[in-house]
Amino acid sequence: MPHLIAPSILAADFGNLQRDIEMLNQSEADWIHVDVMDGLFVPNISFGFPVTSAVYKHAVKPLDVHLMIVDPDRYLKGFKNAGAANITVHFEACANLHRTIQVIKELGCKAGVALNPHTPVAMLEDIITDLDLVLIMSVNPGFGGQHFIENTYKKVKEIRELADQHNPHLHIEVDGGVDKSNAAKLVSAGANVLVAGSAVFSSANQMAMISGLKHPEKLLQL
Ligand code: DX5
Ligand code: ZN
Repeated sequence: MPHLIAPSILAADFGNLQRDIEMLNQSEADWIHVDVMDGLFVPNISFGFPVTSAVYKHAVKPLDVHLMIVDPDRYLKGFKNAGAANITVHFEACANLHRTIQVIKELGCKAGVALNPHTPVAMLEDIITDLDLVLIMSVNPGFGGQHFIENTYKKVKEIRELADQHNPHLHIEVDGGVDKSNAAKLVSAGANVLVAGSAVFSSANQMAMISGLKHPEKLLQL
């Protein structure tokens, strides 16, 4: 199975959001990544339900919602109602992660857990069979356009090994600083979903960049 591309609308032009969503609809993007930040879990505030619902209204692709918020249990149903297909919570933000994952699944969404750069992959050993997705943060969450952390490759390999043993259908997603310089290497380390914000939206040819990230052999031409 080829890997999936999930452009992050955090880097879109919010004054022209419908235009940018329509570009994603036409592109080879597989999912639309939606970054929700609360100003507490991370030092930045992005957007919440109204913007997510507006994206959903125009999108023809599944919304991959990444909750960078404390105590996400309070808002799971709200994001399901706003159009989320996947809901990813942070390991560091959940006191009862197993319960949170069950609730996301009961809502009919794919359930994901994100790990900050300092959180070891081994923390997921006892929950990996319950997950649909693991998101490895390759920057500290909170902002787009940051520099990719090299230790990510090691973590991706570790989670791929764990998944091969216990949950072969697990999606392994990498988020932060993904661009044409690291996409192919991430996929060969075992990632099968790449999030890209600035790499896509700051590109002069956004659709070609998405296509390049989807087919790394094309990246050389960009
Ligand atoms: C960071 C977010 C990312 C961000 C990625 O906290 O979770 O999804 O939008 O943006 P780039 O690709 O610009 O690092
Ligand atoms: Zn994200």
